[in-house]
Amino acid sequence: MTFPRLGVNIDHVATLRQQRGEFYPEVLRAAEVSLATGAHQITIHLREDRRHIQDHDVPTTHDMCRKMNRPLNLEMGTSDEMIKIAIHERPEWICLVPEKRQERTTEGGLNVIDPANLKRVQETCAKIKSAIPDTKISLFVEATPFVLENCLKIKADAVEIHTGDYAKDFLEGKDISAHLARYQQGHQIMKNAGRGYHAGHGLTFESVTPLLKQGLFEEYNIGHWIIAESVFIGLGHVIKEMLTLMQQHPLKG
Ligand code: PXP
Repeated sequence: MTFPRLGVNIDHVATLRQQRGEFYPEVLRAAEVSLATGAHQITIHLREDRRHIQDHDVPTTHDMCRKMNRPLNLEMGTSDEMIKIAIHERPEWICLVPEKRQERTTEGGLNVIDPANLKRVQETCAKIKSAIPDTKISLFVEATPFVLENCLKIKADAVEIHTGDYAKDFLEGKDISAHLARYQQGHQIMKNAGRGYHAGHGLTFESVTPLLKQGLFEEYNIGHWIIAESVFIGLGHVIKEMLTLMQQHPLKG
């Protein structure tokens, strides 16, 4: 039996760190815990504005992945700067994403319909493949047949379907059947072409379940919810430790 892979996106450990300008919580520790627990890969997004992951996190996280014998999946835009960094770092996977500075998170997939954008993505993939042929590329896109057919014009190894709208509809109790039908159709297109079929964005324990039942996606990249939920899994434990420490030190005078 084959099971789907989990890529843990640890961007928001860096968000917390950057918020206070401290060295903690450490991205490296998050990578180590994730991989030691069985995560199949670490995903990080080096954004142009460096709002969470910093340049120095890329090689250190990659070193940790190598030590644990797991791939690093580097999410990035198609700017020349990012292409240069990626070629230097040689991650096992690159996920090309659209990037707008004003957005809170990656809103929507790559535009591979507009000919100029399609050309930019094609050129980016060609540059990456000629410089670092062992690196695999996925394209972060919406699951519509037209978009996916256009992805086949690009030399990439997989698509990662943007599940943000699906996850939002699920959490709001809306009908998700149209999303599931699109995912089924998309799977057919990608499998016929021999390409990988991944998913990510906005997924929670609950919203990922219907997708797991569908059994179409080989890989899920999940971040924000895993990090958010970890706060509550760990909060009581850390408070107990702090209280134990305080109770060893009675007041004087
Ligand atoms: N996959 C891609 C391509 C993304 O851009 C993101 C967000 O950075 C994720 C997965 C993870 O999304 P989330 O943090 O909402 O789980």
